[in-house]
Amino acid sequence: MEKKELLYEGKAKKVYTTEDPDVLIVDYKDDATAFNGLKKGTIVGKGAINNRMTNHIFKKLEAEGVPTHFIEELSDRETAVKKVEIVPLEVIVRNFSAGSFAKKMGMEEGIKFACPTLEFSYKNDDLGDPFINSYYALALNLATQEEIDAITKYTFKVNEVMREYFDSLGIELIDFKIEFGRYHGQIILADEVSPDTCRLWDKETHEKLDKDRFRRDMGNVEDAYEEVFRRLGIQ
Ligand code: C5P
Repeated sequence: MEKKELLYEGKAKKVYTTEDPDVLIVDYKDDATAFNGLKKGTIVGKGAINNRMTNHIFKKLEAEGVPTHFIEELSDRETAVKKVEIVPLEVIVRNFSAGSFAKKMGMEEGIKFACPTLEFSYKNDDLGDPFINSYYALALNLATQEEIDAITKYTFKVNEVMREYFDSLGIELIDFKIEFGRYHGQIILADEVSPDTCRLWDKETHEKLDKDRFRRDMGNVEDAYEEVFRRLGIQ
């Protein structure tokens, strides 16, 4: 599988076409951004960790009945994926208070919820990804009711599988963001699952092992990503 043309360059990944119109190659970068691109930096080794971690978890999710875009890991940083049309929704699940939720609700971080929350943001950099509900998504033709139902069902399954898996690694899954795409009429999981997109805290010490270390200038950013990767035990 060879890269052909650069189709798109995002904040953390480049996406290339291939000779197969149904297949793209994703190339993960070490570039890090936060606050809608206002803060920029590099997390050395992040591209390889996020690529390999995403693939490792997507394989587990597939085995649990969640369809994903994963086809084949081509190298440390490159993966062949199914070409999808991204549904312009950021789907966020929270198991504990943190980040924008804690701020909005005037709560401290790390309070366990009675049940997981699910929220949508409209993927739009110019607007800063505003919080919307499913009625907005329907009204603006961002997704159909059937698609929202599939996204909701898969998202709670993703949370269940990942929460249990991270727990076995001594990690609390605080919250995460995922994205879905349309592939031949089906909704499938796309994008990534990594310390860039999940809040991951050590269960014992509550040490943050995710991108908040970069966002909040906490130091030891690379160490945190490497620690998560080490616990995944990927060969
Ligand atoms: O900032 P907030 O608390 O809303 O983030 C919730 C979760 O979604 C966090 O795990 C964060 O890493 C992730 N997120 C993301 N990309 C965004 C916004 C949030 O991966 N654009």
